[in-house]
Amino acid sequence: MTYNNLEISTEDKIGLITINRPKALNALNKETIEELSNAFGELESNEDIRVIILTGSGEKAFVAGADIKEFKDFDGKQGQQLAQVGQTILFNKIENLKKPVIAAVNGYALGGGLELAMSCHFRIASDNALLGLPEVTLGLIPGYGGTQRLPKLIGKGRAMQAIMTAEMFKAEKAEQIGLVNEVVALEELLPRAKKIASKIAFNSPVAISKAIEVINLSDSDKGFEAEINAFGELFDAEDFKEGTTAFLDKRKPNF
Ligand code: HXC
Repeated sequence: MTYNNLEISTEDKIGLITINRPKALNALNKETIEELSNAFGELESNEDIRVIILTGSGEKAFVAGADIKEFKDFDGKQGQQLAQVGQTILFNKIENLKKPVIAAVNGYALGGGLELAMSCHFRIASDNALLGLPEVTLGLIPGYGGTQRLPKLIGKGRAMQAIMTAEMFKAEKAEQIGLVNEVVALEELLPRAKKIASKIAFNSPVAISKAIEVINLSDSDKGFEAEINAFGELFDAEDFKEGTTAFLDKRKPNF
């Protein structure tokens, strides 16, 4: 597939998606949302790929939000549709992808940009990153899942304050409050993301896929039961045999 607003590369079981609309600080217009949805689908079904990294082009922005120029004349119905379609085809799709998705946040991650990073399975950031949900400055609220995912990551009180004030968290603060897992120098961002991805790629993809599914249920009352069932199902998968045999043979597993 060819993309107007994305660059895709694959190497060593890792798929890298780079959002590339530098003139608009990688803002998410309709086409970019659709392309991202397709790109995640493409990499999810690519058997050579075990882990996906999502980043933004350039040094200034991961994604500066939904494209304000595109929705400025929308009415209520169109606004609702914007949020509904985006959540369905992209944000929820990423969260529930069968392969791990790491956001490598390289600068501004604002509004829909932070919401995109939050729908990834975890985030690392460069030291110049600034993260926030400034929608109330536009007379809006987050619409790509931000009101739901931010409180889960940083707690309800902090999320309330962040959304009400539209404050931007510097990278270091974002790490302190659990919004990102690690902060590294900008030039180290992709090498570090790839290093984490390689570590994941070495482990059982079937088990990792189950882990994503079950961890995503950790806020529901079905989580414990889902864990028991997934745990049991993994005993019937090939990887379990390989993993345990490799351990007992004192060799590395080959998943
Ligand atoms: C469209 C955007 C954009 C955006 C930046 N640009 N953000 N275009 N949508 N979200 C464009 C600018 O218009 C400008 O284009 C170019 O990118 C460079 O931006 P500048 O503002 O000149 O850069 P700078 O002064 O360095 O400021 C950077 C910035 C600022 C602080 C990130 O651009 C900014 O505040 N952007 C908007 C952030 C925001 O409010 N995001 C939330 C959007 S609402 P030109 O053509 O002038 O050069 C949202 C809702 C999600 O995300 C939910 C939807 C359902």
